[in-house]
Amino acid sequence: MIYLDHAATTPVDASVAEVIMETLQNDYGNPSSLYQKGREGRKLVEDARWVFADSIGAKPADIIITSGASESNNTALITTALARREKGNHLITTAVEHHSVLHPMEYLETIGFDVTYLPVDESGSVTADQVEAALRPDTILVSIIYGNNETGSINPIEEIGKRLSDKDVLFHTDAVQAYGSQTIDVEASHIDMLSTTAHKINGPKGIGFLFRRQALHLPSFIHGGTQENTHRAGTENTPYIRGFAQAVKKTIANREASNAHKAGLKHFFLKRLEERDVQFFVNGMAEGGLPHILNIWLPHLQSDKFLIQCDLKGIMLSAGSACTAGSLEPSHVLMAMYGDKTPRIAESVRISFGNENTKEEIEELVDLIASLQKRYQN
Ligand SMILES: Cc1ncc(COP(=O)(O)O)c(C=O)c1O
Repeated sequence: MIYLDHAATTPVDASVAEVIMETLQNDYGNPSSLYQKGREGRKLVEDARWVFADSIGAKPADIIITSGASESNNTALITTALARREKGNHLITTAVEHHSVLHPMEYLETIGFDVTYLPVDESGSVTADQVEAALRPDTILVSIIYGNNETGSINPIEEIGKRLSDKDVLFHTDAVQAYGSQTIDVEASHIDMLSTTAHKINGPKGIGFLFRRQALHLPSFIHGGTQENTHRAGTENTPYIRGFAQAVKKTIANREASNAHKAGLKHFFLKRLEERDVQFFVNGMAEGGLPHILNIWLPHLQSDKFLIQCDLKGIMLSAGSACTAGSLEPSHVLMAMYGDKTPRIAESVRISFGNENTKEEIEELVDLIASLQKRYQN
């Protein structure tokens, strides 16, 4: 089995699984309970919150632990829009966001908000000038993906944050794919809200956090108990919270080596495709994007047929984001970059590298691509 779909999810690190198992077995106390087991659970959750805060230069009080980035994105967008409605009803985002941003935006349109979807160029990113030009007196929120999950294209988040910093407009970024490989500083980048999730950095699925400045006084999205300082009701998932914190610590400690390893595999792959005379074009940023994601157009290779051939060989990769890969929906990201009239849309695949991948695995994929392209070309 060759797993090359780390943008969809990553294997759980052994040290993370160990922390989760240990916590499941020993620390079952409800962190809201006042007796010893509860207090111990509370300490574990608060220790993890420090790890999350430190990882993005934030204060622990501004971290809301959630069930993952879909919840973080929905919370950030919907609570902000509803709470700031008196001020204005205009929101700005990009055409290439993950569906957990696009669909809440579409929902907000159904209840009267006006959303601008910024177009992208062939690099797959927007510019700070574009964001600034789209601002209106009634703009209340800008949400821009940090690094794209289909192409790895990175947006100029710090520059956008600076441009918005003297305006009464909140700035949210979906940092799911960038978190781990990029050094993120919410202060330097003037970010008001940031979403992330554990399962893209070798943590478990179903746990994430939303950085949201308390000073914004935004309401809870999930109503109930007073957990997360009244910002998100629900009994804390102590084992996964600790597991996520362990994944963050390990990812940050290994950041440079891991980035170099993944970028090295990407270069090796592109070099071997060239050496084998494979016809290909990189979608988005060949250089300067996220190190773990590569999206390529392989002319003559229909991606659905190609993925079946990969599957038969035990090679796992995808043709878009995990949510759309199961259906035959064309990628909204690639269509925003290249239009819908080009065969590129139906002949592109995403390869996303992980710590455990090797050059031998990449060589097997290159072999398969070279032989299939020859077969379908003739
Ligand atoms: C960019 C991006 N945003 C949001 C999500 C959703 O994250 P989660 O699966 O934790 O809800 C994902 C991954 O699926 C993603 O890649």
